[in-house]
Amino acid sequence: MQKKIATLKEEIQIEVQKVFLQENENLRQKLFELKMQFLGKTGKLTDLLKSMKDVAPELRPEMGKYVNELRDYAEKLFAEKERLAREKEMALRYEREKIDITAPAIFQKKGGLHPITLIQNELIAIFTGFGFTVFDSTEFETDYYNFQALNIPEDHPSRDMQDTFFIHKNLLLRSQTSAGQVHVMEQQLPPIKILTTGRVYRSDSDATHSPMFHQMEGLVVDKNITLCDLKGLLDAFAKRMFDCNTKTRLRPSYFPFTEPSVEVDLSCVHCHGKGCKICKNTGWIEILGAGMVNERVLQTCKIDTAKYSGFAFGLGIERIAMIKYGIPDIRLFFENDIRFLKQFNSAKGEK
Ligand code: DAH
Repeated sequence: MQKKIATLKEEIQIEVQKVFLQENENLRQKLFELKMQFLGKTGKLTDLLKSMKDVAPELRPEMGKYVNELRDYAEKLFAEKERLAREKEMALRYEREKIDITAPAIFQKKGGLHPITLIQNELIAIFTGFGFTVFDSTEFETDYYNFQALNIPEDHPSRDMQDTFFIHKNLLLRSQTSAGQVHVMEQQLPPIKILTTGRVYRSDSDATHSPMFHQMEGLVVDKNITLCDLKGLLDAFAKRMFDCNTKTRLRPSYFPFTEPSVEVDLSCVHCHGKGCKICKNTGWIEILGAGMVNERVLQTCKIDTAKYSGFAFGLGIERIAMIKYGIPDIRLFFENDIRFLKQFNSAKGEK
């Protein structure tokens, strides 16, 4: 019996040592399993304690003392080793999760909005600030909405300027956001104060024209609307979009859907009217087309022209971006050269 106790003690010591030599991550779990092998309900040491009843009664007190000593020893040993195991596991974890605060920082690469989206958002922010509501219009239009209802009948020469993309005899990719005006006036009664932005398509391509580009259209219809309201609005817009010294001027022009029609110029935002390459030494840059909504358009949309009048304006978003950022070629917006696009967003951390 005494030998058995001694062997068991040795076994416990060896096994505990083995666990420490072999295990790293699961040290405490393994130690616990080992403890159960000896001190658990059916553990070897527990069995030995149970077998005391078979020991001759005169030897029982002495043997009992030895077995109890071994149990105390084992319990202490496991408690001590568990503490060590916890320390070892923590040390390992600290090592693994160590943060080197002197290491170079890892930056998250940040994406950014396309310059056209940035300008479009800015335009929307300015005009909604003036009380306009955004109307989301369709990119496909029928001939009626894109042309006829805007006073551009089938044989009208102004159709040539927009040599358009027809998908079908009567269906085309809209050539102007002005088409949205008609949808609005069909759906809403005055007072109307909307803007609509988005892609438009024309068969046209050079340094300042692209087959797909973006426009923003504004429409105001109410009682007593005059050209002065248009001029006042555009002045306020120019000051917000560019700088507070920017001026606008109106020049007579022609659009079938406005009467009178005007072309709007901006005092050059680069030379402030002195004359430079960008304004071709004129001091002025053309930015948009506008006018009083032609009565024929209002009547087509069943708006009482005896009561109401309105103005409309349409601008190219690329054009505004080119003026604002001094970009000479419209194609740069669509080539998606990351070196070009990156300039419009302060994407910190980019290398
Ligand atoms: N739709 C015209 C274009 O594409 C721009 C335009 C001019 C819109 C005059 C208007 C306007 O609303 O009144 O060139």
